[in-house]
Amino acid sequence: MAVPPKILTNSDLEKMVDTSDEWIQVRTGIRERHILNDNEVISTYAFLAAKEALDKANLQGEDLNLIICATLTPDYLMPSLAILLQKELSAVNAGAFDLSATCSGFIYALVIADQFIRSHPDWKILVVGAEALSRKTNWEDRTTCVLFGDGAGAVIVTGSKEEERGIIDFILGADGSNWPLLTLKGGGSAYFPFDERLPKDEYYIKMQGREVFKIAVRMMEKLASEILERNNLKPQDLALLIPHQANMRIIEYLREKLELPPERVFINIQRYGNTSAASIPIALYEAEREGRIKKGDIVLLVAFGGGFTFASVLLRW
Ligand code: ACO
Repeated sequence: MAVPPKILTNSDLEKMVDTSDEWIQVRTGIRERHILNDNEVISTYAFLAAKEALDKANLQGEDLNLIICATLTPDYLMPSLAILLQKELSAVNAGAFDLSATCSGFIYALVIADQFIRSHPDWKILVVGAEALSRKTNWEDRTTCVLFGDGAGAVIVTGSKEEERGIIDFILGADGSNWPLLTLKGGGSAYFPFDERLPKDEYYIKMQGREVFKIAVRMMEKLASEILERNNLKPQDLALLIPHQANMRIIEYLREKLELPPERVFINIQRYGNTSAASIPIALYEAEREGRIKKGDIVLLVAFGGGFTFASVLLRW
């Protein structure tokens, strides 16, 4: 993983909008978030995360067969973030594309990688979740600007001779019926560049938080319960649950519903905020580094985000 060094604390935000450290911590669990400096780009951090993943796997860029980047905020719409990584990593043998599935993007990308591995077990696939949400944040809107952060995480997916290991099951889902609750309209093709029909605040993420919250808690619980049930597992069989880090209260609700003790649920939202597609790979990296997941452990990843999209992956580490 890699995050920009610049940290924006809740007390910094108190000077920018009408908010308080207490409100942010009680309502979201967030204390601080990392954000890009004005002259930085997120591909820098996606590259650092990808390079570290390659080094840990003892691989070079040229060993990669595919690069998938889950992101809502690539440096450019063209070329994609995956292409920029292909160049920087000299991944001359790899195909490369970006995937847009908001906060569920990393799990979507992981599942796609898994499908390729099942037909080409010797392939090495780089899966990245990278996000520069600070660039799409309206810093005058207190209802959203306290939530988001920037960062990147990466994994290498490949075949294993140990048959038990890897992805056991997944759920990918979507529900477009409520899409107006969480939007980023500017920059797409519905409007011309600098279109006067589009209000300026539509160039930033807009969210009806309370409504999204209600759907998020329900969906996160449904995703986790369904995938466990159909694999004849109980929550207690999980070594670790790694949920998307959108709001501490959503995570706590999920933990209580599953009756899991705090040490079985990974939480780092206090330090990063919501980094959308980067949140799960960053959490996965830190969980492994802290020794909270070991070889053979059963781990559940669950995410929900704009669209709406939702996804879960059950895996044996
Ligand atoms: N500081 C102080 N007060 C605030 C702030 C703030 N930063 N933001 C809102 N308030 C006020 C509101 O104006 C409101 O005041 P009112 O009662 O006088 O109207 C009050 O606090 C409560 O506002 P709510 O929106 O009801 O607060 P809530 O408890 O729902 O928390 C939050 C808001 C944190 C956004 C929550 O709704 C949430 O986490 N939603 C879900 C987020 C999510 O899961 N998103 C999906 C992934 S994101 C993606 O895909 C990019």
